[in-house]
Amino acid sequence: MLIRHSDIILPSEITPPEIYRERRRFMQGMGALAAGAALGSMEEAHASVKLAGVRASAHTLDEDKTPYKDVTTYNNFYEFGTGKSDPAENAGSLKTRPWTVTVEGAVKQAKIWDIDALLKLAPLEERVYRMRCVEGWSMVIPWVGFPLSELLRRAEPTGNAKYVEFVTLNDPKQMPGQRSRVLDWPYVEGLRLDEAMHPLTLMAMGLYGEVLPNQNGAPIRLVVPWKYGFKSAKSIVKIRLVEKQPVSSWMKANPEEYGFYSNVNPQVDHPRWSQAKERRIGEFFKRDTQMFNGYASQVAQLYRGMDLKKFY
Ligand code: MTE
Repeated sequence: MLIRHSDIILPSEITPPEIYRERRRFMQGMGALAAGAALGSMEEAHASVKLAGVRASAHTLDEDKTPYKDVTTYNNFYEFGTGKSDPAENAGSLKTRPWTVTVEGAVKQAKIWDIDALLKLAPLEERVYRMRCVEGWSMVIPWVGFPLSELLRRAEPTGNAKYVEFVTLNDPKQMPGQRSRVLDWPYVEGLRLDEAMHPLTLMAMGLYGEVLPNQNGAPIRLVVPWKYGFKSAKSIVKIRLVEKQPVSSWMKANPEEYGFYSNVNPQVDHPRWSQAKERRIGEFFKRDTQMFNGYASQVAQLYRGMDLKKFY
């Protein structure tokens, strides 16, 4: 992700995953070095807290999953730093209990939900989704969560609710990356109400059958598989139903490059690089990027009649 023009990162400067992994293997091999050893032990000892009663879901893919290690060590979570390994290294400072999520705005039933009540709100489902980052890499992740529509329905949106705004925790004490102004904190994202109500739109509380690791957005995050990864806001504390289109953190940071919709679209290039192909983490050759990340049969009707070059 790119912040300001002065900060330009070319796609070629983003470390390709295979090189990144090679570097990590090299570091881990140097067991005598304290830094390498610490990194290795951190990766081995992940907190494996299993989530109970997780159901299978019809909305799931039968595709090779990206290994747990890659899903949890190659991340974007700017609240913990802008490097891919920063979230795994720094997100230990995030306290995920107690935690509440406020649902408010244009609703009849505004409510402050305790995170453990959200765990029981609806049956938890495992959903294997394709995720495509705007930077050009992708993963296949077995999320555990419930449809956002379950939560929004309970809030009873009023006729003025046209959009949904998602707000992430703002606490520089727990989130060291917020001490720098790389983005306008807190991290804000938004969806149109019908996108938010779509059956594929998930509130994830886990992955690989376990509680969500902090670096992946614990204790609760959004997952919108047909949009670029940045729409999937992590560590959410507030969900606000609003009449006007929200301005997301990325739109504020760089409106020419990041629009509100941000649907995965191989025909609409990022101003500085093509979006036609992607590198699946763990693979060497690039793949063709699919329209709406392969979910076109399920979501294309949401955008019928819209010029997707204009509404990028
Ligand atoms: N949410 C918050 N709060 N802060 C972030 O920096 N990064 C986004 C998104 N959600 C981000 C965020 C981006 S750019 C991507 S690609 C995905 O999270 C990455 O999710 P993952 O690390 O679980 O794969």
